[in-house]
Amino acid sequence: MAMPSHELLVKKIGAIRGYKSWFKRVFARDVHIDDLAKAIAAFERTVVSGNAAYDKFRAGTQQAFNESEERGLALFEGKARCSQCHNGPNLTDEKYHNLGVDWDTAHVDLGRYKVTQNEQDIGVFKTPTLREIADTAPYMHNGTFATLEEVVALYNKGGIANPFLDVEMRRPNRTLEQMLEYYKKVEVQETPSPETGLVKLGLTKQEQADLVAFLRTLSGQGWQHITPPDFFPE
Ligand code: HEC
Repeated sequence: MAMPSHELLVKKIGAIRGYKSWFKRVFARDVHIDDLAKAIAAFERTVVSGNAAYDKFRAGTQQAFNESEERGLALFEGKARCSQCHNGPNLTDEKYHNLGVDWDTAHVDLGRYKVTQNEQDIGVFKTPTLREIADTAPYMHNGTFATLEEVVALYNKGGIANPFLDVEMRRPNRTLEQMLEYYKKVEVQETPSPETGLVKLGLTKQEQADLVAFLRTLSGQGWQHITPPDFFPE
């Protein structure tokens, strides 16, 4: 919520009479940070996404995908290496990575490092789910990309060079030789640039379009009943 502290947040919400009485009614005490978290979590549990074309295809319904989408899935798990980080039912490894988003600008967000102060967390952000991705632009932590095409283009050029780029994008602490050996195994066509260490994916225009077509199959059902509130407690 971009609030500087829990205390201030509780104070702000607690000062709104409508919220104050709702919190009393539901949690039988004054506004408390734990109850605030519970309320938000209870709401979020009602917002789900499933039964997408992707799920149907996974469940064995071949017709759920057209040819481009099927090629896109193969790229996602193969040449484009997306599933190294975007995997599992929600297409996320629930881990943190540095793709270099921001590092070509004057304002780099240090990401998780701000919380942990660990050097290995510099510029890392949590891998987001890709469910409903076609409808949740803009993309990345800073909303820098308006379209999925732009996101795929970023990956295609190997991310943005910086000393902390993720091991799955580059292999830091490894010699160029070791990196080349690794990337041979994962079928990357182009070799890492010796200057930047970036590994281009070498996706053709058609392959990039197929990947985007695949990403669009991740839109499903389970959230459409959620509509903006007509009013807020005052
Ligand atoms: C090294 C791990 C990693 C790999 C490989 C990877 N991603 Fe990501 N992906 C991430 C992380 C971390 C973010 C969030 C980055 C940020 O916010 O700065 C992200 C963000 C995204 C987003 C934007 C999500 C949003 O809600 O803003 C899309 C779309 C996406 N990835 C698709 C892909 C595709 C397609 C591929 C393969 C070409 C891929 N990713 C490969 C880790 C990865």
